[in-house]
Amino acid sequence: MDKFMIEGGTALYGEIEIQSAKNAVLPLLAASILTEEKVVLYKCPDITDVRHMIEILSELGCQTSLVETTLHIESAGARHHEIPARLTKEIRSSIFMLGSVIARFGRARIAYPGGCDIGLRPIDLHLSSLKQLGVKITEEGGYIDCQCDRLIGAEIYLDCPSVGATENIVLAAVLAKGKTVIYNAAKEPEIVDLQNFLNLMGAKVQGAGSAIISIEGVESLKGIAYTPIPDRIEAGTFLIAAAICGGEVGLTNVRAEDISSLLHKLRQIGCKIHTKYDRIHIISNSIRQSPKLIETSPYPGYPTDLQAQISALACVCNGSTVIVENLFETRFKHMPQLQRMGADITVRGKTAFIRGVKQLHGAEVVASDLRGGAALTLAGLAANGITTVTDLSHIDRGYIAFDAKLKKLGAKIERVPVSF
Ligand code: UD1
Repeated sequence: MDKFMIEGGTALYGEIEIQSAKNAVLPLLAASILTEEKVVLYKCPDITDVRHMIEILSELGCQTSLVETTLHIESAGARHHEIPARLTKEIRSSIFMLGSVIARFGRARIAYPGGCDIGLRPIDLHLSSLKQLGVKITEEGGYIDCQCDRLIGAEIYLDCPSVGATENIVLAAVLAKGKTVIYNAAKEPEIVDLQNFLNLMGAKVQGAGSAIISIEGVESLKGIAYTPIPDRIEAGTFLIAAAICGGEVGLTNVRAEDISSLLHKLRQIGCKIHTKYDRIHIISNSIRQSPKLIETSPYPGYPTDLQAQISALACVCNGSTVIVENLFETRFKHMPQLQRMGADITVRGKTAFIRGVKQLHGAEVVASDLRGGAALTLAGLAANGITTVTDLSHIDRGYIAFDAKLKKLGAKIERVPVSF
């Protein structure tokens, strides 16, 4: 068990490269068992969520090897259709395996998934959609049992544009008999990446990035070598780090169009941002106006995965900010921790009212989820004095060498073992 020790007050200067998107890689890993041929993923981020998905693939009987950042997956020998609780409790994205495991084996048995503790995170849409594709589902003893002779295409309307449910339906429908249409589909860039990946494997998916996705089932899919899209949430986290600390930071391997809602907010508060090709350059001076209103919503709205980080920034801006979290009901766990650092925050239900203060002060804080942990780290970088952030396992789920990258930009941050 490690913790971050942070000495705040240093501006950030320099350049870093952004990793491939966690939320793109996870469904691609699920997709890899749809073929018996070899799948190669380049620039695969070595984060714990990816490690857990690789363990699940091994449990199913796939051969996997991660050499530096290239992941090789051979699933010709995959024979098992069961994912036990020991593996699913670590990662909610294990639920994405349902669609592809059923498509491959005609059956799947999976323990209820875990992952970030950010609310109820139901899976009703995943299950009802699979039922519409002809899957018989029974739930017993913490396990979901799925069975079907042949997946049959269907017209599916999602009550809300769930990212995971959209991906699960696509993963099942690519090998179904006939056509599937998803209405009110999620539009996130990671879904477009999944479509591109599957189509290169020989699938017929159209419309990802819009609210209607259609999938024409095919008989089989072939192997592929692929580089996933850059991580818009990691990029956003480093842009907010530059905004909160001041300085000048360049990011490479980013797609500005994927984080336009954040770039708009950062420009609004006074940061200068230039984008060109796969680069973003941010200049931030020390006096910033508050972002006023942040309302999380599905893409292309402001992402819930960058809500905690901009909340930390709002704590040290001039003026007040209202943060409305519309997606996950318990995604404010970082707020009491920020209060320990001197932030002026009032939370009422899904709304947080933040009045900017001149300076945060160092404190001992605990990360309780992935993005909240990143936010506390950023707050520590801006605070006066020493901040310690514990429970780094949450941060390790989604960021490669978070501290090393910040250090490269000049931050005073050390990862040290917790002494008992
Ligand atoms: C994905 C992302 C996560 C991000 C979230 C929202 C991955 C691996 N994770 O999570 O980082 O925070 O999108 O952008 O890509 N819902 C239901 N029933 C369901 C499924 C979802 O009601 O069956 C609701 C959820 O409670 C939530 C909303 O739909 O309010 C969006 O959730 P969803 O898009 O499904 O999030 P995830 O796919 O879990």
